[in-house]
Amino acid sequence: MTLALGVLLSGRGSNFQAILDAIARGELDAKVRLVVSNRGDAEGLERARAAGVTARFVDHRTFSDRGSFEREVVRQLRDAGVEWVVLAGFMRIVTSELLGAFPDRVVNIHPSLLPAFPGVDAQAQAIAYGVTVTGCTVHLVDEGVDHGPVLAQAALPIAPDDTRDTLATRLLEREHALLVATLCRIAAGDLSIEPPPEAGARPRVHWRAGPPRI
Ligand code: GRF
Repeated sequence: MTLALGVLLSGRGSNFQAILDAIARGELDAKVRLVVSNRGDAEGLERARAAGVTARFVDHRTFSDRGSFEREVVRQLRDAGVEWVVLAGFMRIVTSELLGAFPDRVVNIHPSLLPAFPGVDAQAQAIAYGVTVTGCTVHLVDEGVDHGPVLAQAALPIAPDDTRDTLATRLLEREHALLVATLCRIAAGDLSIEPPPEAGARPRVHWRAGPPRI
């Protein structure tokens, strides 16, 4: 099944680039149908244009509230035929507008082993805390920040002389690989999501033959 992807981003777009590269290599059976950035100067928009992917700047500051901004993003994603949405460095908290439009179909990549270190600069948080192992997480998005059922995780040891930047650089390679591996397994039909066992609980994630590994 070719995944019809929409990518939301706000900046550099290296995770988005990893998706494009994996598609170009024939490794990932997907098509990026639309990229939306809430920042006009996002490098990710340039990457999209260079790859011939439709890219739009939707400025959240021109909307009266979060909901109306998201309704416009949802409209564009739907018009483009998107089925799965990837948050790849999208620096906005998403709401029920997006999550309701794509139930259990919004994926985020975060540079820590969630639930540790949600929020901004997870790499600096990990160093400041003094953990010796961190990693990255791909998860389904719910209404919490960096929150929702875990799809895949990869660990990375922190060296004593690591700085925030050396760690972030090493981690980014893992992020790219984990995000691509997860999308490949979704495209292969290996993921099933069971409804929550009780009201208020999370949906349950089940991978045929175990979670994605890198
Ligand atoms: C990544 O570290 C990702 O995990 C986080 O934001 C960063 C985006 O980097 N959510 P890029 O824009 O994909 O290069």
